[in-house]
Amino acid sequence: MHHDVDAAPRTLARLAADIAVQTGELIATLRDRGVTVAASKSSAVDIVTEADREAERLIVSALRAARPADGVLGEEGTGIAGTSAVTWVVDPIDGTVNYLYGIPAFAVSIAATVRDAHAFADGRRAVAGAVFNPRTGELFEAWEGGGSRLNGSPISASGKTELATALVGTGFGYTAERRAEQAEMASRLLPLARDIRRIGSAALDLCNVAAGRLDAYYEMGLNPWDYAAGVLIAREAGAALLGRDDSTPPGEPFLFAGDAGLVRELRAVVLGG
Ligand code: IPD
Ligand code: CA
Repeated sequence: MHHDVDAAPRTLARLAADIAVQTGELIATLRDRGVTVAASKSSAVDIVTEADREAERLIVSALRAARPADGVLGEEGTGIAGTSAVTWVVDPIDGTVNYLYGIPAFAVSIAATVRDAHAFADGRRAVAGAVFNPRTGELFEAWEGGGSRLNGSPISASGKTELATALVGTGFGYTAERRAEQAEMASRLLPLARDIRRIGSAALDLCNVAAGRLDAYYEMGLNPWDYAAGVLIAREAGAALLGRDDSTPPGEPFLFAGDAGLVRELRAVVLGG
């Protein structure tokens, strides 16, 4: 299955984990020194800090040193076309608003992906990935076929099938138009579920599904770096992933994660079907 990848997915996961931990330590140190907003992106509340940029530079140089033939796609602008089958999809700080406010729910997300036209909306599929939260010291990692781990111990999704008692994570985009739509979806769901959580990091939301801390998660409008590692960690922990409908791969416009039956019901409620 991995004949086009020159290294075992497990080896790629080890590399992702090492770089995620190293970068996580960097962003935590930079945060302790103080943080300022460097610029805003899609809207005034979609921000980037100097730490996001410095962290992306560290990730890219570490990946280039270890695997010079691979491509790299990063949230803060990296777009290196490689010559190997692997493209790394990285988010230097997922949960940037939490990072700015000092809320300990942000993470470094690093995934090794290969081309797969049908797997996800971006036409790629992660074969290995790691997500590290430097504030909790939690390292989530997975490689294809190897299960998911939290700090080295196997984790699994909750398997909850009933929406009424399900705890469902979600997130909101950065533009007013997008949020108005998302508010309608959340208002349909809220009366029908145990509760909802807006933790503020899509990568950690997917890892929380993997660890059974959330029964399901959905979001509209994610970018590949938000979900690349997290979807593999969720899937390897037993969660199903769905897109807007059965012929649309998960990612953009929609991603649903959780028990296979539960996410179908969740999708119908959220989309108003
Ligand atoms: C955001 C977070 C958030 C999600 C947004 C993402 P960022 O990423 O993952 O939880 O709701 O859709 O854009 O901006 O913190 O890297
Ligand atoms: Ca992100």
